[in-house]
Amino acid sequence: MAESVVKAGLLTNVLMEIVNSPINIALVILIFFLIYKIFRRQSDVPVRQAVPELPKLKKRDFTVEELRKYDGTQEDGRVLVAVNGTVYDVTKGKRFYGPGGPYAAFGGRDASRGLATFSVSTAGEGYDDLSDLTTVEMDSVKEWESQFKEKYELVGRLLKPGEQPTNYSDEEDEPTGTGDKSKDD
Ligand code: HEM
Repeated sequence: MAESVVKAGLLTNVLMEIVNSPINIALVILIFFLIYKIFRRQSDVPVRQAVPELPKLKKRDFTVEELRKYDGTQEDGRVLVAVNGTVYDVTKGKRFYGPGGPYAAFGGRDASRGLATFSVSTAGEGYDDLSDLTTVEMDSVKEWESQFKEKYELVGRLLKPGEQPTNYSDEEDEPTGTGDKSKDD
């Protein structure tokens, strides 16, 4: 009983302290406002855009032009990215490579040069043989490539102009040969 009287007295004292000073009143209002903003922001945050679950793409090779279609703007929203001559299905990373993503410039493109030179806007129109990249830049491309290989599904090779696509049979699941662009080809 005595304890609750002490508690009530303490509370009254604190409240009196607050209402007696305009600065304290302003601070209390500010605190409530900030709490309101935090909670409102949390409830406003949309659930991360759902990435479509697409059927696995059949193994196939792509010309630069064919690859361009897969920038995530098609109806199915699939996104493909080529790195060092190999094409990966990066649809599960659509928030990076899809429209509006930070690396959207890589969607439907050969990202090798951009990755090598830390530029998200370097993406030429035609086939890029990367022959002018330095050894260090090529090493960087290869490092990126191994990350892509680990995270994403490999779809096929990026074809050089005039190169014929591989005929992947159903049982042969891995593309033959590597899409590696060596500096001397
Ligand atoms: C201010 C500069 C940058 C910041 C702060 C930044 C930040 C990040 C972060 C936080 C991630 C990991 C996202 C996640 O896993 O949830 C990421 C991934 C990535 N970043 Fe950057 N980045 C920057 C610049 C660049 C540049 C210049 C490039 C390429 C030229 C690049 C290419 C990538 C790629 C390819 C991924 C992997 C996405 C994936 O998992 O598929 N970033 N970045």
